[in-house]
Amino acid sequence: MTTDLLAFARQLPKAELHLHIEGSLEPEMLFNLAKRNNVDIPFKSVEEIRNAYQFSNLQDFLDIYYQGMSVLQTEEDFFDLTMAYLNRSRADNVRHAEIFFDPQGHTERGVPFNIAISGIITALSMAKVQFGMTTKLIMCFLRHLPEGAAFETLKEAEPWLDHIEAVGLDSSEVGHPPSKFENVFKAAREQGLKLVAHAGEEGPPDYVYEALELLKIDRLDHGNRALEDEKLVQRLVGANMTLTVCPLSNLKLGVVKDMRQHPLKKMLDLGLCATVNSDDPSYFGGYMMDNFEAVIDALDLDESHIRTLAKNSFTGSFLPEGQKRAQLAAIDMVSA
Ligand code: HPA
Ligand code: ZN
Repeated sequence: MTTDLLAFARQLPKAELHLHIEGSLEPEMLFNLAKRNNVDIPFKSVEEIRNAYQFSNLQDFLDIYYQGMSVLQTEEDFFDLTMAYLNRSRADNVRHAEIFFDPQGHTERGVPFNIAISGIITALSMAKVQFGMTTKLIMCFLRHLPEGAAFETLKEAEPWLDHIEAVGLDSSEVGHPPSKFENVFKAAREQGLKLVAHAGEEGPPDYVYEALELLKIDRLDHGNRALEDEKLVQRLVGANMTLTVCPLSNLKLGVVKDMRQHPLKKMLDLGLCATVNSDDPSYFGGYMMDNFEAVIDALDLDESHIRTLAKNSFTGSFLPEGQKRAQLAAIDMVSA
């Protein structure tokens, strides 16, 4: 039964709305890029890198994630990284991807903004031409840095705004509430950018309120802890807010203790527009279909849950309405 549901989920067109491109850096590529660029890494083998991917919370992961980025140096590196993700997710029938990148993770260590974004954008256009996959790019601000640094990044992005759909907010959540970035989100909105933010992954429901009220987000990344507040849930349902949920990430970072306790099914039952995403697939144990497999098994999802999740991914995307309708119609044509 589960095998049939898994085949059904695979066949459905899907959109990925929560994916950090730097988090798709597989140990093999990390190792090869370290060699190619003569970057010192504290690992002697791919196996050692894989073994280091053990985390008990978000900060544990982020320390390794930022260390891993150090091998990304040239435009070609960013191109290879992005192309590898697009090819891999295409195999899971991801037809549209809205991809985060962390420019400050690169500019902070002396790699220019233009190098990172050029490599990524070239891969995105190639995926469109080669296999018809559509994409959007979301520029994230690192919330452990001051708002002034986010403003500098927004300024650097100005020549590239035609290629950037939205800004986001990621990195260490607790102690860095959305309110810290109210001004820069307002400036981004005035430039015509869409707005998303990580909130309620480790942070309390108040951070989700702030993301809604102060940042005026168009989409909520994670949002798990919103379930602790019934009024907040009603508000998210009423606003038709999409939540980009990341099951394997939640398990690996201790946001949930056991996949059987994951709130995804409950979110759907409450009428929340929840979606399935891979977050940082190379660090958390899998891409889109690995995440579907984990929740189908653990939460006993049925055909209707799975179809809803696929539909939510397009409804919650930043695609133009006509393309959303086409993808939703394609989903309706797939039978279980
Ligand atoms: N949470 C916060 N910041 C991040 C994450 C995440 O899951 N992945 C990459 N940066
Ligand atoms: Zn994330």
